[in-house]
Amino acid sequence: MTLTPEPTPGDTSWFTHDRFGLFIHWGTYALAARHEWVKSREQIPTEQYMKYFDHFDPDLYDPEAWADAAANAGMKYFVITTKHHEGFCLWNTRLTNYKATKTPYGKDLLKPMVEAFRARDMKVGFYHSLLDWHHPHYTADRCHPMRDNKDYLKQDKKRDLKKYARYLHGQTKELLTKFGKIHIIWFDFSLKASPPFEAKGKDVWQSEKLIKMVRKLQPDILINDRLEIDQDIKTPEQFMPRGWVHVDGKPVVWEACHTFSGSWGYYRDEETWKSADQLVKMLIECVSKGGNLLLNVGPTGRGEFDHRALDRLADMGEWMKRHSRSIYGCTQAPEEYPCPDDCRYTYNPDTNRLYLHVFSWPFKHLHLDGMADKVEYAQLLNDASEVNMLRRARQAEYGSMSEGAPANLLTLELPVKKPNVTVPVIELFLK
Ligand code: GLC
Repeated sequence: MTLTPEPTPGDTSWFTHDRFGLFIHWGTYALAARHEWVKSREQIPTEQYMKYFDHFDPDLYDPEAWADAAANAGMKYFVITTKHHEGFCLWNTRLTNYKATKTPYGKDLLKPMVEAFRARDMKVGFYHSLLDWHHPHYTADRCHPMRDNKDYLKQDKKRDLKKYARYLHGQTKELLTKFGKIHIIWFDFSLKASPPFEAKGKDVWQSEKLIKMVRKLQPDILINDRLEIDQDIKTPEQFMPRGWVHVDGKPVVWEACHTFSGSWGYYRDEETWKSADQLVKMLIECVSKGGNLLLNVGPTGRGEFDHRALDRLADMGEWMKRHSRSIYGCTQAPEEYPCPDDCRYTYNPDTNRLYLHVFSWPFKHLHLDGMADKVEYAQLLNDASEVNMLRRARQAEYGSMSEGAPANLLTLELPVKKPNVTVPVIELFLK
């Protein structure tokens, strides 16, 4: 039995097949180059923060190159920050001048991006911030850059969050009507009350009404869970769930989002970059628990992907080129196949194949409990070389190795040398 989440209002069929997407966080904070929350972290007033807007000129921006990097890595969809918390908009919105077309760059950044990714058959997702540290009617809260500024706080009485909600709905409408079919809208995020600040959640965002509009404009779209009303996708952030994500005891569609390093926006001096080996394993780990991985790049102020991100994307692509069969269309393996130590299973229910990902290459033998009568053929996925299967009779030749072994133990005979790939995968054709 494989786990199957209950249907949601949107179309999750492509999503649970494709498994691997690119997150992009891009805004004027790329110029500060020290986290996309820099305005809040350093409590920078808007007048001062505008220097990043005034100097925003990503002259090397080449969305074709971005889309190539993502497609070559094996990613099947992308989610771009149309607006992050700073409030800056990548597209030529009619509702504010705080947008790409008014910077020195002077052009819409979103449209060519959507077209480039779409041309490579990738699905299009929009991240849209619910927080907005630029909008004049957006009140202070514990995350707001002006949370300690008495003058700003005094003015809050005159601010009208209903006006902000109108702006939010208006921009969402633009995003869902001017760019063709949109597959995901990824709102971020809701805030609990934190005295003296009130909560900002479904009442302030008018989430119900917003969701209704979104569904009317893009009926198949997937909506995430951060409007304070769960919709199609749960979004664990920067941690690896211990198992398939459940809500109220039921398995749900989920997507972990992760950075390459410790920041979403471009951060020049941040050094906690994950290795390609770690990243490939994170992707496998997600799929082995029935989830997706959305992996984030923060492009630079010149408009390029950081070389550290490009290197890792290329390495992941090398692995995906030969192993994507263990990712696309795959999910958590049924419980009846217990996974050996240091390994992860994924399973393709359509082809009835099990994929054994070997995280730590053992010496010569891998023992699979209860599998002797279940596997018809086994091969290494990277080169389709047969993996010898030792059943009961042959196991005896290894003497004590098989003593006390369960009757239906299957032993795989592996080459002594680990195959020359990041994570070797053994494809098991089930009977
Ligand atoms: C958080 C952060 C943010 C990032 C997001 C991605 O909510 O506020 O900077 O965009 O998570 O999941």
